[in-house]
Amino acid sequence: MGDLSNKPGRLQRAPENFLTEEQVKAVGAGRRDFMRKSFLAASAAMMAPVAARAVEGDPEILNLPPWSTTLGLPVATNPYGQPSKYESQLLRRESPGLTRVGGASVSFAPLQGLFGIITPSGLHFERHHQGWHDVDPARHRLMINGSDPAFLKKPKVYTMDQLMRLPSVSRIHFIECGANTGLEWGNVAVPTVQYTHGMLSCSEFTGVPLKLLLEDCGVDYKKARYVLAEGADGSSMTRTIPMEMVENGEVLVAYGMNGEMLRPENGYPLRLVVPGVQGVSWVKWLRRIEVGDKPYATKDEAVHYIDLMPDGLHRQYTSVQECKSVITTPSGGQRLLEQGFYNVSGLAWSGRGKVTRVDVSFDGGINWKTARIEGPVQNKALTRFNVDWVWDGKPAILQSRAMDETGYVQPSYGQLRAVRGTKSIYHNNAIQSWKIVESGEVSNVQVL
Ligand code: MTE
Repeated sequence: MGDLSNKPGRLQRAPENFLTEEQVKAVGAGRRDFMRKSFLAASAAMMAPVAARAVEGDPEILNLPPWSTTLGLPVATNPYGQPSKYESQLLRRESPGLTRVGGASVSFAPLQGLFGIITPSGLHFERHHQGWHDVDPARHRLMINGSDPAFLKKPKVYTMDQLMRLPSVSRIHFIECGANTGLEWGNVAVPTVQYTHGMLSCSEFTGVPLKLLLEDCGVDYKKARYVLAEGADGSSMTRTIPMEMVENGEVLVAYGMNGEMLRPENGYPLRLVVPGVQGVSWVKWLRRIEVGDKPYATKDEAVHYIDLMPDGLHRQYTSVQECKSVITTPSGGQRLLEQGFYNVSGLAWSGRGKVTRVDVSFDGGINWKTARIEGPVQNKALTRFNVDWVWDGKPAILQSRAMDETGYVQPSYGQLRAVRGTKSIYHNNAIQSWKIVESGEVSNVQVL
């Protein structure tokens, strides 16, 4: 891990800065032993004051630094603002354990270094089936048609200018790839939360409700019960969306993300936003919407994003992302400096609505403490939780367990595997465990 003592304040936030070569190599390679529920907790410590790091006579406070005694840089030195050079290691990263095929790959968001619920646009995860394009908005079109003329009376082709004149809404939602946490099904020891859970981001999206566009084109809701969305990239990404999701006004044809136009990697200039549904349905570079009377069973829904069950059959169209949570600080690859107080922080979300409660365990699931939820809690958005913890220097296993407004409780690995087996890739929402040893090092373990 190298010398961490000269990096105060960084330890909990950016473990990737300190990931060793061996840890990087271990991604996708290692297997680990399952921990048993018999793990015994270290006894609860008394509340201790946070140890002051700066020693008396610290020159950093006694002497004026250069930035207090020289002229600063003028405004607009960076016309488009950039993060501090001291934050240059906080990056989305490709997992060394996954193979890139052409432009098709994933980059993971550095959840361990983020605060609140909004993912900065430049750190939003990426998943491309065939690489990305910076599409010319002047040449981009959205066509809306029906598979039968009776389903939609007036098929139309919209330009970006036409779309952006229509009434718009802005809403905060999470997007999670159905394959997020996928390597954990096979008990692969992925070292950090960036790689276990980083196919997850949350933004404020701006756009036109798809319902408004379909009605503009004269949809007949009685006949047209499904929507097919198609992307303009070489993967011809196509996904079926049930009409109920559109009729409630939640599905957006979005051009804005976090107050500016979408980033090219995230579908500029137009993408579908399907709140609560796995990322693959959020078709990027959206070029066509077709309405029909049955699911389309396209390649992206017949071969990919289906759940292999223990009996050898596949479950299809399990698109809604069930309630899930993860502790982001402290998390795998980080190291606690010393005993004492820590703010344990994480993210919870549910594709079925709002998160209502998050409980945290410090002893591998034996005892639970209800965390503070940061409001306002938004529908189908990431929700930040925090909980106070005094580490007594003894081994501990940290877990979080979220609940949503339907009453659903995030399952343990034992509960999830009892239904789903171990052969799946997609839709793993099990409770994540981080083990802390006496040295303060945090690693990824599984508790059944
Ligand atoms: N849309 C198109 N046209 N092409 C793609 O490859 N990838 C999908 C979806 N939409 C994809 C796409 C997948 S699998 C996911 S998880 C999300 O986009 C990822 O969105 P992001 O790259 O903005 O994070």
